[in-house]
Amino acid sequence: MRIINPDADPQSVIPGIDPLRIPRHIAVIMDGNGRWAQERGFPRIFGHRNGAAAVRETVETCGKLGVEALTLYSFSSENWKRPKAEVDALMELCAIYCDNERDELIRENIRLRAIGRWQDLPDPAGEAIARVIEATNHCTGPTLCLALNYGARDEITRAVRSIAQSAKAGEIEPSDISDELISANLDTAGLPDPDLLIRTAGEKRLSNYLLWQLSYAELYIADVLWPEFNKEELCKAIQDYASRNRRFGGLNNSPS
Ligand code: IPE
Ligand code: IPE
Ligand code: MG
Repeated sequence: MRIINPDADPQSVIPGIDPLRIPRHIAVIMDGNGRWAQERGFPRIFGHRNGAAAVRETVETCGKLGVEALTLYSFSSENWKRPKAEVDALMELCAIYCDNERDELIRENIRLRAIGRWQDLPDPAGEAIARVIEATNHCTGPTLCLALNYGARDEITRAVRSIAQSAKAGEIEPSDISDELISANLDTAGLPDPDLLIRTAGEKRLSNYLLWQLSYAELYIADVLWPEFNKEELCKAIQDYASRNRRFGGLNNSPS
């Protein structure tokens, strides 16, 4: 039996929506910042800066809808290939976002967590993330999860290594290795798998994102660029999701 967050009011956001058809966990690939800026004749970093408003609106709307977890692809393990000036600017924005949003997250009872090798990020970004994780540790509402210096293959490799170490130490038998044990060793341990993956800016690929966890996610590609993403676009994606028939390999159409 699914328990809907009592503070949420999904029908005030999407009239008539069945609360049981709201995704529990939404994963987002926030793409298109660079194109958004370049279309306007500005440097790419201008697009990243303008993406912050879309993040805020998405977090706020997910809270009202009763979404339990929102995972945002913020910096991939491959994004280090970009010019140093862009990487530095992204790191600076990450620190600014964390510092600016901390009080609001606490007010909204949102718990921040991070996945990926975020501890390896340079300061002040690394420190700022750690501070908000700590400051929101007591929050019992939705989870906002930032994928930072994240790559799914790296995450799976680390999980496999940790399981192999437990086996070598005699703590587990190879036959103990299960779907659940692997999930529990991923950075997302404890979160339900995403029900819905939204990617903005039209690209139809996963870009090394949550490869294990997205096994049965519904995919939604929005053509808008990330800085243009807003409450209306999010509601469109959720309405589309709510209309789908998720079968998980079976034949039934039962809401999760
Ligand atoms: C997504 O926007 C943000 C990050 C990857 C950090 P992009 O910077 O990839 O924008 P496009 O895809 O080049 O337009
Ligand atoms: C994925 O977007 C990473 C993030 C949104 C942080 P990219 O723009 O890096 O992905 P590709 O290069 O188009 O696959
Ligand atoms: Mg991109």
